[in-house]
Amino acid sequence: MHNLSKSYGSTKAVDGLSFTIHPGRVTGFLGANGAGKSTTMRMMLGLARPSTGHVLIDGVPYQHLTRPLTKVGALLETRSAHPGRRAYQHLRWLAQSNNIPASRVEAVLEEVGLQNEKSKRAKGFSLGMAQRLAIAAALLGDPPILLLDEPVNGLDPEGIIWIRELMKSLAAQGRTVFVSSHLLGEMANTAEHLIVIDHGRVLADTTVSAFIGESTSLEDAYLRVIQR
Ligand SMILES: Nc1ncnc2c1ncn2[C@@H]1O[C@H](COP(=O)(O)OP(=O)(O)OP(=O)(O)O)[C@@H](O)[C@H]1O
Ligand SMILES: [Mg+2]
Repeated sequence: MHNLSKSYGSTKAVDGLSFTIHPGRVTGFLGANGAGKSTTMRMMLGLARPSTGHVLIDGVPYQHLTRPLTKVGALLETRSAHPGRRAYQHLRWLAQSNNIPASRVEAVLEEVGLQNEKSKRAKGFSLGMAQRLAIAAALLGDPPILLLDEPVNGLDPEGIIWIRELMKSLAAQGRTVFVSSHLLGEMANTAEHLIVIDHGRVLADTTVSAFIGESTSLEDAYLRVIQR
């Protein structure tokens, strides 16, 4: 992405971001509440129009991808399934819209542990179940790129461990995994590379170990760059 900005009235949610995300590792997108993480991710997916700049995915804007779910799997903060739809219906519909074989629906339901909940309507899902369904949707097209906005939100301890391992294994398969969080511990646990933003600007774009550097911990390093 190059010089990406987004203003809402007089608020500069994102302010001139330029960075490149590489495959084969988990890249953490770290920043305080309101730092601009979700806004940036929405622009990456063509869901918000940039005030300046652009985002390219393998050289093209998201809107130009054919069968986008087979290229980029995304989890945003919001509940994406229609409340009245059953879990498997939601996934089957997504699969159909992107020419993804129906067999993937069962595969991802199993992968996220929702086999027994697949006939429930989305409105009856707990936060953690909704999160698992959204992760299933992200994995549906077996995409080489994953964008996950706060994926541990609402997950139980077992779910948190599961998503950490999932992200690492997806990266180990050579995929690009971009994950936002405001939780330092999550980042320390999963990310190899870090992009830190504050007030819509990049403060750091480096490996986790280089970011920690001379500091005693990731917390310590984060406080140092924030206060600079
Ligand atoms: N649709 C919108 N209309 C107006 N302001 C918005 C809108 N979306 C985001 N903002 C503002 O943009 C800024 C960045 O918000 P954003 O949701 O991108 O932050 P975030 O880093 O994802 O925070 P969090 O960790 O709380 O999820 C905030 O000041 C927010 O109030
Ligand atoms: Mg957010």
